[in-house]
Amino acid sequence: MSIEVNNLTKIYRLKHGQKKLAVDNISFTIPDGEIIGFIGPNGAGKSTTIKMMTGILVPDNGSVSIDGLNFKKNRKEIMMKTGVVFGQKSVLCWDIPVIDSLKLFRDMYRVPNDVYKENMAVFTEILGLDEFINQPPRLLSLGQRMKADLTASLIYNPDILFLDEPTIGIDVLSKERIRQFIKKTNEERHTTIILTTHDVSDIESLCEKMIIIDKGSLIYDGTLPKLKSIYRTTDLEEIIKKIYLAGEEGNAKIC
Ligand SMILES: Nc1ncnc2c1ncn2[C@@H]1O[C@H](COP(=O)(O)OP(=O)(O)O)[C@@H](O)[C@H]1O
Ligand SMILES: [Mg+2]
Repeated sequence: MSIEVNNLTKIYRLKHGQKKLAVDNISFTIPDGEIIGFIGPNGAGKSTTIKMMTGILVPDNGSVSIDGLNFKKNRKEIMMKTGVVFGQKSVLCWDIPVIDSLKLFRDMYRVPNDVYKENMAVFTEILGLDEFINQPPRLLSLGQRMKADLTASLIYNPDILFLDEPTIGIDVLSKERIRQFIKKTNEERHTTIILTTHDVSDIESLCEKMIIIDKGSLIYDGTLPKLKSIYRTTDLEEIIKKIYLAGEEGNAKIC
């Protein structure tokens, strides 16, 4: 499913009448079946944008359209078709075994039993769910918790998956497994994936296209090879550093 974001804007209202413009009039389109690297420095507005794209926050201006559907009219329909994982906040119940949370998701999203069983078999094989599925999230490592969250967000076969820093704080091997899992999900299920990460290898191994934002504004929307050709280097880490530095100096425009 494709996503269309038009003039999206979010202003947080702070104490004493102060305001923070977190997302400033951004527009982009994400075609069906792509994996997009959504990047920007800390505080750029990535999570705020994802929250508006998943209906968690209401924009102050602009709109999000998911395959022609919008949150005002088709909220439930969109919810059934999208999954979201926040690396810094679990969707699972902290104190109950992971398996029980997964069953809750199954019931909430009315996943047929055969689909549930098949998905669990696939996810168990790739993510090694057996190791920890009977334990509550509070006893899990960060990597295990992320694998559990990924399972929960995909158990109902969403067409779009939002991943906000899914590899943050995770060891290299678990990271690699999670990457493989994301790639496989995209290839085999044709899931459209929006991936926020600070890990350059995540981008290199998964994303053909990138959207970069800084201080709430869109500064790049294009392919990874094009970005490399603009900067005349294949060193993505170097490119990102340059972009963020230019942003700090107040001239972050690339495209
Ligand atoms: N709930 C909130 N209330 C007030 N300000 C917020 C809130 N959430 C985020 N912000 C501010 O909005 C800006 C964008 O934040 P965020 O979307 O979390 O950025 P990112 O995910 O790119 O790090 C930051 O300046 C942040 O401090
Ligand atoms: Mg964030």
